[in-house]
Amino acid sequence: MSALSDPFLAPAPRPQPRPLSTPAFIWTAMRNPIEIWGERAYRERVLRNDWLRVPTVIVNDPATIRHCLVDNAANYAMQPLRQRVLRPMLRDGLLTAEGELWRRTRRAMAPVFTPRNVGGLAAIMATRSQAFAEALEQSEADAPRDVANEMTLLTYDILQATLFTDAIAGEPAEFARAMDDFLHRMGRIDPLDLLDAPAFLPRVGRLLGHRSTTYFRRLITETAERRRALIAADPTSAPRDLLTLLLQTEGLSASEVEDNIITFIGAGHETTARALGWTLYLLASAPIERDKVERELDEQLPGLPDPREWADALPRTRAALEEAMRLYPPAPSLNRMAIEADTVAGMEVPAGASLLVMPWLVHRHEALWERPGHFLPDRFAPENRGRIDRYQYIPFGVGPRVCIGASFALQEGVIALACLMRTLRFEYVGARPPHPVQKITVQPRGGLPMRVTRRRKSL
Ligand code: HEM
Repeated sequence: MSALSDPFLAPAPRPQPRPLSTPAFIWTAMRNPIEIWGERAYRERVLRNDWLRVPTVIVNDPATIRHCLVDNAANYAMQPLRQRVLRPMLRDGLLTAEGELWRRTRRAMAPVFTPRNVGGLAAIMATRSQAFAEALEQSEADAPRDVANEMTLLTYDILQATLFTDAIAGEPAEFARAMDDFLHRMGRIDPLDLLDAPAFLPRVGRLLGHRSTTYFRRLITETAERRRALIAADPTSAPRDLLTLLLQTEGLSASEVEDNIITFIGAGHETTARALGWTLYLLASAPIERDKVERELDEQLPGLPDPREWADALPRTRAALEEAMRLYPPAPSLNRMAIEADTVAGMEVPAGASLLVMPWLVHRHEALWERPGHFLPDRFAPENRGRIDRYQYIPFGVGPRVCIGASFALQEGVIALACLMRTLRFEYVGARPPHPVQKITVQPRGGLPMRVTRRRKSL
Protein backbone atom coordinates (compact mmCIF):
# COMPACT_ATOMS: atom_id res chain seq x y z
CA MET A 1 0.00 0.00 0.00
CA SER A 2 1.36 3.38 -0.97
CA ALA A 3 0.11 5.71 1.74
CA LEU A 4 1.57 3.88 4.71
CA SER A 5 4.12 6.65 5.38
CA ASP A 6 2.15 8.94 7.65
CA PRO A 7 -1.47 7.88 7.81
CA PHE A 8 -4.06 9.58 9.99
CA LEU A 9 -5.06 7.77 13.18
CA ALA A 10 -8.84 8.08 13.41
CA PRO A 11 -10.14 9.07 16.85
CA ALA A 12 -11.78 6.21 18.77
CA PRO A 13 -12.38 5.28 22.39
CA ARG A 14 -9.49 3.45 24.02
CA PRO A 15 -10.33 -0.20 24.72
CA GLN A 16 -11.15 -0.85 28.39
CA PRO A 17 -8.00 -2.05 30.18
CA ARG A 18 -9.99 -4.46 32.41
CA PRO A 19 -13.52 -5.89 32.53
CA LEU A 20 -16.12 -3.38 33.70
CA SER A 21 -18.01 -3.81 36.96
CA THR A 22 -21.78 -4.22 36.54
CA PRO A 23 -22.64 -0.58 37.42
CA ALA A 24 -19.84 0.68 35.18
CA PHE A 25 -21.07 -1.58 32.40
CA ILE A 26 -24.64 -0.26 32.67
CA TRP A 27 -23.42 3.34 32.80
CA THR A 28 -21.14 2.90 29.78
CA ALA A 29 -23.72 0.93 27.75
CA MET A 30 -26.20 3.74 28.32
CA ARG A 31 -23.82 6.57 27.46
CA ASN A 32 -21.84 5.06 24.63
CA PRO A 33 -21.96 1.29 24.00
CA ILE A 34 -18.84 1.24 21.80
CA GLU A 35 -16.85 2.09 24.92
CA ILE A 36 -17.62 -1.18 26.70
CA TRP A 37 -15.15 -3.21 24.67
CA GLY A 38 -11.82 -4.37 26.04
CA GLU A 39 -8.69 -5.23 24.06
CA ARG A 40 -9.71 -8.88 23.63
CA ALA A 41 -12.73 -7.81 21.61
CA TYR A 42 -10.40 -6.37 18.97
CA ARG A 43 -8.14 -9.46 18.95
CA GLU A 44 -10.19 -12.62 19.33
CA ARG A 45 -12.30 -14.39 16.73
CA VAL A 46 -15.21 -15.22 18.98
CA LEU A 47 -15.86 -14.13 22.58
CA ARG A 48 -18.45 -14.86 25.17
CA ASN A 49 -19.52 -12.31 27.77
CA ASP A 50 -22.42 -13.01 30.04
CA TRP A 51 -23.31 -9.41 30.85
CA LEU A 52 -26.14 -9.11 33.34
CA ARG A 53 -26.47 -12.89 33.12
CA VAL A 54 -27.57 -12.84 29.44
CA PRO A 55 -25.27 -15.22 27.54
CA THR A 56 -23.80 -13.10 24.75
CA VAL A 57 -21.54 -14.35 21.96
CA ILE A 58 -19.60 -11.78 19.96
CA VAL A 59 -18.47 -12.94 16.54
CA ASN A 60 -15.57 -11.26 14.74
CA ASP A 61 -14.46 -13.98 12.39
CA PRO A 62 -15.56 -13.69 8.71
CA ALA A 63 -16.36 -17.41 8.23
CA THR A 64 -18.37 -17.47 11.45
CA ILE A 65 -20.21 -14.28 10.48
CA ARG A 66 -21.18 -16.01 7.28
CA HIS A 67 -22.38 -19.02 9.23
CA CYS A 68 -24.58 -16.97 11.58
CA LEU A 69 -25.97 -14.32 9.25
CA VAL A 70 -26.16 -16.23 5.98
CA ASP A 71 -25.94 -20.04 6.08
CA ASN A 72 -27.74 -20.50 9.39
CA ALA A 73 -29.60 -17.16 9.37
CA ALA A 74 -32.94 -18.89 10.04
CA ASN A 75 -31.68 -19.75 13.53
CA TYR A 76 -31.01 -16.12 14.45
CA ALA A 77 -33.97 -13.85 15.14
CA MET A 78 -33.77 -10.12 15.82
CA GLN A 79 -32.49 -9.57 19.36
CA PRO A 80 -35.21 -8.47 21.79
CA LEU A 81 -33.11 -5.53 23.06
CA ARG A 82 -32.67 -4.21 19.50
CA GLN A 83 -36.39 -4.52 18.93
CA ARG A 84 -37.18 -2.73 22.20
CA VAL A 85 -35.04 0.22 21.14
CA LEU A 86 -36.34 0.44 17.56
CA ARG A 87 -39.92 -0.80 17.63
CA PRO A 88 -41.58 2.05 19.54
CA MET A 89 -40.87 4.19 16.51
CA LEU A 90 -40.59 1.80 13.58
CA ARG A 91 -43.19 -0.78 14.68
CA ASP A 92 -43.76 -3.19 11.77
CA GLY A 93 -41.54 -1.46 9.23
CA LEU A 94 -39.06 -3.56 7.22
CA LEU A 95 -36.16 -3.04 9.64
CA THR A 96 -38.05 -4.43 12.61
CA ALA A 97 -40.62 -6.77 11.00
CA GLU A 98 -40.07 -10.51 11.23
CA GLY A 99 -41.42 -13.69 9.65
CA GLU A 100 -44.03 -13.57 6.93
CA LEU A 101 -44.67 -9.82 7.19
CA TRP A 102 -40.95 -9.13 6.71
CA ARG A 103 -40.77 -11.44 3.68
CA ARG A 104 -43.81 -9.86 2.06
CA THR A 105 -42.64 -6.30 2.65
CA ARG A 106 -39.11 -7.02 1.47
CA ARG A 107 -40.39 -8.59 -1.74
CA ALA A 108 -42.74 -5.68 -2.36
CA MET A 109 -40.01 -3.06 -1.89
CA ALA A 110 -37.36 -4.84 -3.97
CA PRO A 111 -38.30 -3.20 -7.33
CA VAL A 112 -37.38 0.25 -5.96
CA PHE A 113 -33.84 -0.90 -5.22
CA THR A 114 -32.90 -2.75 -8.41
CA PRO A 115 -29.66 -1.42 -9.99
CA ARG A 116 -31.71 -0.05 -12.89
CA ASN A 117 -34.09 1.88 -10.70
CA VAL A 118 -31.35 3.14 -8.39
CA GLY A 119 -29.34 4.24 -11.45
CA GLY A 120 -32.38 6.17 -12.61
CA LEU A 121 -32.26 8.22 -9.39
CA ALA A 122 -28.66 9.34 -9.89
CA ALA A 123 -29.56 12.54 -11.74
CA ILE A 124 -31.84 13.73 -8.91
CA MET A 125 -29.14 12.88 -6.35
CA ALA A 126 -26.66 15.01 -8.31
CA THR A 127 -29.04 17.95 -8.80
CA ARG A 128 -29.88 18.08 -5.10
CA SER A 129 -26.25 17.69 -4.03
CA GLN A 130 -25.12 20.37 -6.45
CA ALA A 131 -27.75 22.82 -5.22
CA PHE A 132 -26.75 22.03 -1.64
CA ALA A 133 -23.05 22.65 -2.41
CA GLU A 134 -23.89 25.99 -4.01
CA ALA A 135 -25.98 27.08 -1.03
CA LEU A 136 -23.16 26.08 1.31
CA GLU A 137 -20.69 28.04 -0.77
CA GLN A 138 -22.82 31.16 -0.59
CA SER A 139 -23.33 30.98 3.15
CA GLU A 140 -21.10 33.01 5.45
CA ALA A 141 -17.61 31.92 4.53
CA ASP A 142 -15.93 32.29 7.90
CA ALA A 143 -18.56 30.89 10.21
CA PRO A 144 -17.87 27.20 10.81
CA ARG A 145 -20.71 24.90 9.91
CA ASP A 146 -21.72 21.76 11.73
CA VAL A 147 -21.10 19.41 8.83
CA ALA A 148 -22.70 16.47 10.67
CA ASN A 149 -25.95 18.41 10.75
CA GLU A 150 -25.51 19.72 7.21
CA MET A 151 -25.17 16.17 5.93
CA THR A 152 -28.42 15.18 7.66
CA LEU A 153 -30.17 18.00 5.79
CA LEU A 154 -28.61 16.96 2.48
CA THR A 155 -29.38 13.23 2.75
CA TYR A 156 -32.90 13.95 3.96
CA ASP A 157 -33.44 16.17 0.95
CA ILE A 158 -32.09 13.49 -1.42
CA LEU A 159 -34.18 10.78 0.19
CA GLN A 160 -37.42 12.69 0.09
CA ALA A 161 -36.79 13.84 -3.48
CA THR A 162 -35.92 10.36 -4.80
CA LEU A 163 -38.17 7.95 -2.89
CA PHE A 164 -41.04 10.29 -2.02
CA THR A 165 -40.91 12.79 -4.92
CA ASP A 166 -40.95 15.78 -2.54
CA ALA A 167 -44.21 14.63 -0.96
CA ILE A 168 -43.27 14.38 2.72
CA ALA A 169 -45.27 16.85 4.74
CA GLY A 170 -43.46 19.19 7.16
CA GLU A 171 -40.47 21.46 7.08
CA PRO A 172 -36.97 19.92 6.60
CA ALA A 173 -35.16 21.81 9.39
CA GLU A 174 -37.88 20.94 11.87
CA PHE A 175 -37.71 17.37 10.68
CA ALA A 176 -33.93 17.26 11.20
CA ARG A 177 -34.31 18.63 14.73
CA ALA A 178 -36.96 16.03 15.58
CA MET A 179 -34.77 13.25 14.15
CA ASP A 180 -31.81 14.40 16.21
CA ASP A 181 -34.00 14.51 19.31
CA PHE A 182 -35.35 11.05 18.53
CA LEU A 183 -31.92 9.49 18.09
CA HIS A 184 -30.61 11.23 21.16
CA ARG A 185 -33.36 10.07 23.48
CA MET A 186 -34.63 6.84 21.98
CA GLY A 187 -31.32 5.67 20.56
CA ARG A 188 -29.82 5.21 23.97
CA ILE A 189 -30.07 1.87 25.61
CA ASP A 190 -32.20 2.18 28.69
CA PRO A 191 -30.86 0.44 31.81
CA LEU A 192 -34.27 -1.18 32.22
CA ASP A 193 -33.87 -2.76 28.80
CA LEU A 194 -30.47 -4.10 29.73
CA LEU A 195 -31.94 -5.58 32.86
CA ASP A 196 -34.70 -7.13 30.78
CA ALA A 197 -37.38 -5.32 32.77
CA PRO A 198 -40.96 -5.84 31.58
CA ALA A 199 -42.10 -3.62 28.74
CA PHE A 200 -44.81 -1.93 30.84
CA LEU A 201 -42.22 -0.18 33.02
CA PRO A 202 -41.75 3.30 31.57
CA ARG A 203 -38.34 4.10 30.09
CA VAL A 204 -37.47 7.67 30.95
CA GLY A 205 -35.51 8.40 27.76
CA ARG A 206 -38.34 7.13 25.62
CA LEU A 207 -40.99 9.10 27.43
CA LEU A 208 -38.97 12.21 26.69
CA GLY A 209 -38.65 11.10 23.08
CA HIS A 210 -42.40 10.69 22.81
CA ARG A 211 -42.82 14.18 21.39
CA SER A 212 -40.65 13.45 18.36
CA THR A 213 -42.48 10.14 17.80
CA THR A 214 -45.84 11.94 17.81
CA TYR A 215 -44.45 14.54 15.43
CA PHE A 216 -43.20 11.91 12.97
CA ARG A 217 -46.40 9.91 13.12
CA ARG A 218 -48.51 12.96 12.33
CA LEU A 219 -46.29 13.88 9.41
CA ILE A 220 -46.40 10.38 7.98
CA THR A 221 -50.17 10.00 8.24
CA GLU A 222 -50.54 13.30 6.42
CA THR A 223 -48.05 12.25 3.74
CA ALA A 224 -49.85 8.93 3.11
CA GLU A 225 -53.28 10.57 3.04
CA ARG A 226 -52.21 13.17 0.50
CA ARG A 227 -50.73 10.60 -1.85
CA ARG A 228 -53.71 8.29 -1.46
CA ALA A 229 -55.93 11.18 -2.53
CA LEU A 230 -53.69 11.85 -5.53
CA ILE A 231 -53.79 8.22 -6.62
CA ALA A 232 -57.56 8.14 -6.18
CA ALA A 233 -58.01 11.32 -8.25
CA ASP A 234 -55.82 10.16 -11.14
CA PRO A 235 -53.71 7.01 -10.80
CA THR A 236 -51.60 7.85 -13.87
CA SER A 237 -50.41 11.18 -12.49
CA ALA A 238 -49.07 9.78 -9.20
CA PRO A 239 -45.27 9.41 -9.19
CA ARG A 240 -44.01 5.80 -9.47
CA ASP A 241 -41.90 6.05 -6.34
CA LEU A 242 -41.50 4.13 -3.08
CA LEU A 243 -44.49 5.88 -1.56
CA THR A 244 -46.89 4.88 -4.35
CA LEU A 245 -45.49 1.35 -4.36
CA LEU A 246 -46.06 1.06 -0.62
CA LEU A 247 -49.60 2.31 -0.90
CA GLN A 248 -50.33 -0.14 -3.68
CA THR A 249 -48.78 -3.19 -2.00
CA GLU A 250 -51.46 -5.74 -1.34
CA GLY A 251 -51.62 -7.18 2.13
CA LEU A 252 -50.06 -4.18 3.94
CA SER A 253 -52.43 -2.46 6.35
CA ALA A 254 -52.57 1.34 6.53
CA SER A 255 -50.51 1.31 9.72
CA GLU A 256 -47.93 -1.07 8.19
CA VAL A 257 -47.62 1.32 5.24
CA GLU A 258 -46.97 4.18 7.66
CA ASP A 259 -44.47 2.07 9.62
CA ASN A 260 -42.54 1.60 6.39
CA ILE A 261 -42.64 5.24 5.41
CA ILE A 262 -41.09 6.15 8.74
CA THR A 263 -38.62 3.24 8.53
CA PHE A 264 -37.38 4.23 5.08
CA ILE A 265 -37.04 7.86 6.09
CA GLY A 266 -35.15 6.91 9.26
CA ALA A 267 -32.98 4.11 7.86
CA GLY A 268 -32.46 5.89 4.55
CA HIS A 269 -30.88 9.19 5.47
CA GLU A 270 -29.32 9.26 8.94
CA THR A 271 -26.88 6.43 8.08
CA THR A 272 -25.75 8.02 4.82
CA ALA A 273 -25.39 11.38 6.57
CA ARG A 274 -23.03 9.82 9.12
CA ALA A 275 -20.99 8.18 6.35
CA LEU A 276 -20.62 11.50 4.50
CA GLY A 277 -19.78 13.51 7.61
CA TRP A 278 -17.06 11.11 8.73
CA THR A 279 -15.64 10.95 5.20
CA LEU A 280 -15.33 14.74 5.01
CA TYR A 281 -13.75 14.83 8.47
CA LEU A 282 -11.23 12.08 7.67
CA LEU A 283 -10.27 13.66 4.35
CA ALA A 284 -9.85 17.03 6.07
CA SER A 285 -7.50 15.33 8.53
CA ALA A 286 -5.46 13.51 5.88
CA PRO A 287 -4.50 16.09 3.22
CA ILE A 288 -2.62 13.52 1.10
CA GLU A 289 -5.81 11.52 0.75
CA ARG A 290 -7.89 14.63 0.17
CA ASP A 291 -5.56 15.69 -2.64
CA LYS A 292 -6.05 12.33 -4.34
CA VAL A 293 -9.82 12.73 -4.28
CA GLU A 294 -9.67 16.35 -5.46
CA ARG A 295 -7.34 15.41 -8.29
CA GLU A 296 -9.62 12.59 -9.36
CA LEU A 297 -12.63 14.91 -9.39
CA ASP A 298 -10.77 17.63 -11.31
CA GLU A 299 -9.53 15.17 -13.91
CA GLN A 300 -12.50 12.84 -14.29
CA LEU A 301 -15.71 14.78 -13.67
CA PRO A 302 -15.59 16.94 -16.81
CA GLY A 303 -15.74 13.73 -18.88
CA LEU A 304 -18.52 12.15 -16.82
CA PRO A 305 -21.80 13.87 -17.57
CA ASP A 306 -23.93 10.96 -16.30
CA PRO A 307 -23.81 10.70 -12.49
CA ARG A 308 -25.02 7.10 -12.62
CA GLU A 309 -21.46 6.21 -13.68
CA TRP A 310 -19.71 8.01 -10.84
CA ALA A 311 -19.65 5.24 -8.23
CA ASP A 312 -17.57 3.12 -10.62
CA ALA A 313 -15.69 5.86 -12.45
CA LEU A 314 -14.44 7.68 -9.32
CA PRO A 315 -12.57 4.92 -7.46
CA ARG A 316 -10.63 7.26 -5.13
CA THR A 317 -13.74 9.08 -4.01
CA ARG A 318 -15.51 5.80 -3.45
CA ALA A 319 -12.51 4.34 -1.59
CA ALA A 320 -12.51 7.29 0.84
CA LEU A 321 -16.20 6.71 1.55
CA GLU A 322 -15.72 2.96 2.02
CA GLU A 323 -12.75 3.45 4.31
CA ALA A 324 -14.72 5.98 6.37
CA MET A 325 -17.50 3.40 6.74
CA ARG A 326 -14.90 0.88 7.87
CA LEU A 327 -13.64 3.17 10.63
CA TYR A 328 -17.05 4.58 11.54
CA PRO A 329 -19.65 2.06 10.41
CA PRO A 330 -22.90 4.06 10.45
CA ALA A 331 -24.68 0.93 11.74
CA PRO A 332 -22.12 -0.36 14.24
CA SER A 333 -23.98 -3.35 15.62
CA LEU A 334 -26.01 -6.27 14.23
CA ASN A 335 -27.88 -7.89 17.08
CA ARG A 336 -29.48 -11.32 16.95
CA MET A 337 -30.80 -13.97 19.29
CA ALA A 338 -30.20 -17.71 18.81
CA ILE A 339 -33.49 -19.58 18.47
CA GLU A 340 -31.89 -22.99 18.96
CA ALA A 341 -28.48 -23.86 20.37
CA ASP A 342 -25.63 -23.63 17.87
CA THR A 343 -21.86 -24.07 17.89
CA VAL A 344 -19.77 -21.36 16.27
CA ALA A 345 -15.99 -21.58 15.87
CA GLY A 346 -15.93 -24.19 18.63
CA MET A 347 -17.97 -22.07 21.02
CA GLU A 348 -21.42 -22.99 22.22
CA VAL A 349 -24.25 -20.57 21.63
CA PRO A 350 -27.09 -21.58 23.95
CA ALA A 351 -30.68 -21.20 22.79
CA GLY A 352 -31.85 -17.68 23.72
CA ALA A 353 -28.29 -16.27 23.76
CA SER A 354 -27.57 -12.89 22.22
CA LEU A 355 -25.35 -12.96 19.18
CA LEU A 356 -23.53 -9.77 18.30
CA VAL A 357 -21.82 -9.09 15.01
CA MET A 358 -20.28 -5.68 15.47
CA PRO A 359 -19.08 -3.97 12.30
CA TRP A 360 -17.40 -1.61 14.78
CA LEU A 361 -15.18 -4.47 16.08
CA VAL A 362 -14.83 -6.48 12.87
CA HIS A 363 -13.71 -3.39 10.95
CA ARG A 364 -11.05 -2.60 13.56
CA HIS A 365 -9.94 -6.14 14.26
CA GLU A 366 -6.20 -6.58 14.62
CA ALA A 367 -6.07 -9.95 12.86
CA LEU A 368 -8.06 -8.74 9.87
CA TRP A 369 -6.59 -5.35 9.05
CA GLU A 370 -3.14 -3.86 8.82
CA ARG A 371 -3.02 -0.70 10.95
CA PRO A 372 -6.71 -1.03 11.73
CA GLY A 373 -7.12 2.37 13.37
CA HIS A 374 -5.61 4.35 10.48
CA PHE A 375 -7.39 6.02 7.61
CA LEU A 376 -6.01 4.29 4.52
CA PRO A 377 -8.45 4.53 1.61
CA ASP A 378 -5.97 2.64 -0.61
CA ARG A 379 -7.26 -0.56 0.98
CA PHE A 380 -10.38 -0.04 -1.12
CA ALA A 381 -8.61 0.93 -4.34
CA PRO A 382 -9.68 -1.44 -7.15
CA GLU A 383 -6.29 -3.18 -7.16
CA ASN A 384 -6.52 -4.00 -3.42
CA ARG A 385 -10.25 -4.51 -3.01
CA GLY A 386 -10.06 -8.23 -3.82
CA ARG A 387 -8.03 -8.84 -0.66
CA ILE A 388 -10.92 -7.84 1.57
CA ASP A 389 -13.11 -10.80 2.53
CA ARG A 390 -16.83 -10.35 1.85
CA TYR A 391 -17.55 -10.99 5.54
CA GLN A 392 -14.76 -8.83 6.91
CA TYR A 393 -16.24 -5.55 5.65
CA ILE A 394 -19.93 -5.40 6.48
CA PRO A 395 -21.18 -1.81 6.76
CA PHE A 396 -24.45 -2.88 5.16
CA GLY A 397 -24.73 -6.22 6.98
CA VAL A 398 -25.01 -9.55 5.15
CA GLY A 399 -27.53 -12.30 4.55
CA PRO A 400 -31.29 -12.02 4.12
CA ARG A 401 -31.46 -8.87 6.27
CA VAL A 402 -28.70 -7.09 4.32
CA CYS A 403 -29.43 -3.39 3.81
CA ILE A 404 -31.97 -3.07 1.03
CA GLY A 405 -30.64 0.43 0.29
CA ALA A 406 -26.93 -0.46 0.01
CA SER A 407 -26.44 0.38 -3.66
CA PHE A 408 -28.68 3.45 -3.31
CA ALA A 409 -26.49 4.64 -0.42
CA LEU A 410 -23.17 3.99 -2.16
CA GLN A 411 -24.29 5.76 -5.31
CA GLU A 412 -25.66 8.66 -3.27
CA GLY A 413 -22.51 8.86 -1.14
CA VAL A 414 -20.16 9.10 -4.11
CA ILE A 415 -22.39 11.59 -5.94
CA ALA A 416 -22.77 13.81 -2.87
CA LEU A 417 -19.02 13.77 -2.15
CA ALA A 418 -18.22 14.54 -5.77
CA CYS A 419 -20.62 17.50 -5.88
CA LEU A 420 -19.41 18.88 -2.55
CA MET A 421 -15.69 18.40 -3.07
CA ARG A 422 -15.40 19.47 -6.67
CA THR A 423 -15.64 23.11 -5.67
CA LEU A 424 -15.49 23.19 -1.86
CA ARG A 425 -12.89 22.40 0.76
CA PHE A 426 -13.77 21.31 4.27
CA GLU A 427 -11.45 21.98 7.22
CA TYR A 428 -12.08 20.66 10.69
CA VAL A 429 -11.96 23.47 13.27
CA GLY A 430 -13.12 21.69 16.44
CA ALA A 431 -11.01 22.31 19.54
CA ARG A 432 -10.72 18.55 20.06
CA PRO A 433 -11.00 15.59 17.70
CA PRO A 434 -14.61 14.40 17.44
CA HIS A 435 -15.45 11.51 19.74
CA PRO A 436 -17.55 8.72 18.15
CA VAL A 437 -20.69 7.86 20.09
CA GLN A 438 -23.06 4.99 19.34
CA LYS A 439 -26.67 6.19 19.34
CA ILE A 440 -28.14 3.66 16.93
CA THR A 441 -25.69 5.17 14.39
CA VAL A 442 -22.08 6.23 15.11
CA GLN A 443 -22.18 9.98 15.60
CA PRO A 444 -19.50 12.55 16.36
CA ARG A 445 -20.16 13.92 19.85
CA GLY A 446 -20.65 17.67 19.55
CA GLY A 447 -20.97 17.51 15.76
CA LEU A 448 -18.32 18.27 13.13
CA PRO A 449 -17.50 21.99 13.15
CA MET A 450 -15.85 22.68 9.82
CA ARG A 451 -14.87 25.70 7.81
CA VAL A 452 -16.14 25.44 4.27
CA THR A 453 -14.31 27.43 1.60
CA ARG A 454 -14.28 27.48 -2.17
CA ARG A 455 -11.25 25.68 -3.60
CA ARG A 456 -12.06 26.28 -7.27
CA LYS A 457 -14.65 27.85 -9.49
CA SER A 458 -17.77 25.92 -10.34
CA LEU A 459 -17.22 23.52 -13.22
C1 HEM B 1 -24.41 4.36 4.43
C2 HEM B 1 -25.68 4.10 4.49
C3 HEM B 1 -26.31 2.88 5.11
C4 HEM B 1 -25.79 1.95 5.96
C5 HEM B 1 -24.40 1.90 6.55
C6 HEM B 1 -26.84 0.99 6.23
C7 HEM B 1 -26.67 -0.13 7.03
C8 HEM B 1 -27.63 -1.11 7.21
C9 HEM B 1 -27.43 -2.34 7.91
C10 HEM B 1 -26.14 -2.77 8.58
C11 HEM B 1 -28.58 -3.04 7.87
C12 HEM B 1 -28.82 -4.43 8.44
C13 HEM B 1 -29.27 -4.40 9.89
C14 HEM B 1 -29.30 -5.77 10.53
O1 HEM B 1 -28.92 -6.77 9.90
O2 HEM B 1 -29.68 -5.83 11.71
C15 HEM B 1 -29.54 -2.23 7.14
C16 HEM B 1 -30.85 -2.59 6.91
C17 HEM B 1 -31.75 -1.77 6.28
N1 HEM B 1 -31.47 -0.59 5.60
FE1 HEM B 1 -29.71 0.31 5.48
N2 HEM B 1 -27.95 1.35 5.55
C18 HEM B 1 -27.68 2.49 4.82
C19 HEM B 1 -28.53 3.16 3.96
C20 HEM B 1 -29.83 2.81 3.72
C21 HEM B 1 -30.70 3.46 2.77
C22 HEM B 1 -30.29 4.60 1.85
C23 HEM B 1 -31.93 2.86 2.89
C24 HEM B 1 -33.21 3.14 2.15
C25 HEM B 1 -33.36 4.04 1.26
C26 HEM B 1 -31.81 1.82 3.89
C27 HEM B 1 -32.83 1.03 4.33
C28 HEM B 1 -32.66 -0.10 5.11
C29 HEM B 1 -33.75 -0.99 5.48
C30 HEM B 1 -35.22 -0.80 5.15
C31 HEM B 1 -33.18 -2.05 6.19
C32 HEM B 1 -33.88 -3.29 6.77
C33 HEM B 1 -33.75 -4.42 5.75
C34 HEM B 1 -34.35 -5.72 6.24
O3 HEM B 1 -34.32 -6.01 7.42
O4 HEM B 1 -34.83 -6.46 5.36
N3 HEM B 1 -30.52 1.82 4.37
N4 HEM B 1 -28.93 -1.06 6.73
